[in-house]
Amino acid sequence: MRHLMSPMDFSVEELDRLLSLAIDIEQNPKKFAHACDGKKLATCFYEPSTRTRLSFEAAMLNLGGSVLGFSSADSSSAAKGESVSDTIRVISCYADICAMRHPKEGAPLVASLKSTIPVINAGDGGHQHPTQTLTDLLTIRSLKGHLGDLTIGLCGDLKFGRTVHSLIHALIRYPNIRFVLISPEELRVPSYIREDVLDKNHIPYREVERLEDAMADLDILYMTRVQKERFFNEEDYVRMKDFYILDKAKMTLAKKDMLVLHPLPRVNEISVEVDDDPRAAYFKQAQYGVYVRMALILTLLEVEVC
Ligand code: NCD
Repeated sequence: MRHLMSPMDFSVEELDRLLSLAIDIEQNPKKFAHACDGKKLATCFYEPSTRTRLSFEAAMLNLGGSVLGFSSADSSSAAKGESVSDTIRVISCYADICAMRHPKEGAPLVASLKSTIPVINAGDGGHQHPTQTLTDLLTIRSLKGHLGDLTIGLCGDLKFGRTVHSLIHALIRYPNIRFVLISPEELRVPSYIREDVLDKNHIPYREVERLEDAMADLDILYMTRVQKERFFNEEDYVRMKDFYILDKAKMTLAKKDMLVLHPLPRVNEISVEVDDDPRAAYFKQAQYGVYVRMALILTLLEVEVC
């Protein structure tokens, strides 16, 4: 039995197969409509979510399965003091696969150790968000045609943004990847990622504070929200929250085929006037999230569709 805690849990070949399966699903949805008949997905979300939880649920429903779960710690026995280990032992009796989001780093991993069903990390604190990364990879591969030979700008809260951490881990395995890390000093990529992941693997990157200094070089601009819930005080958040605002004027500095991605939710970091720009791909990205989660459920449940 396999779990998914980090994008590194899959080899590049396995990821390739998973993304190809997602494209097959996109193109032939009917073929997969009963692939998970009789199977149940549990969504155990101890933190707020719109896209991740609902796209998991849509994914299982599209495969003919059903869903159960909770969407906040308050509405589960966590509020009574139950541990994730006990909760997952019980969920294992009710469902065939579980997607878990938790504010504590490593909580889904702890759950996976006691689980008798596959557990998917749907975001653990400021650590990892592997299924967002699968979504991002599918979006890039589908819209750019390849995952190597790209200059990727990661902009915003690179310290607490778990989507950025997982995406860096995943992308460095492709050839000729270069990063431009765009953040204020206080929200830089943590040193354990800069040193242990980027430096150790000799990945070219530069760090800049101004978005304008990076725009012209980028093939992908990955915008992120300042992660309010991970700040220790409100004052710091208020100071940082509008540090970046991507607007039409800044888009004029970019390549004609640059893609703008964002895991969403957006707050102010992308002005709505950018939404009509053909390079704005963030809503398309959310749609890809359903196909890739369908592919992931099939893969972890070892369901073959001919
Ligand atoms: C992201 C997350 O939860 O980390 N959202 C998502 O799953 N699409 C990004 C965010 O909340 O900023």
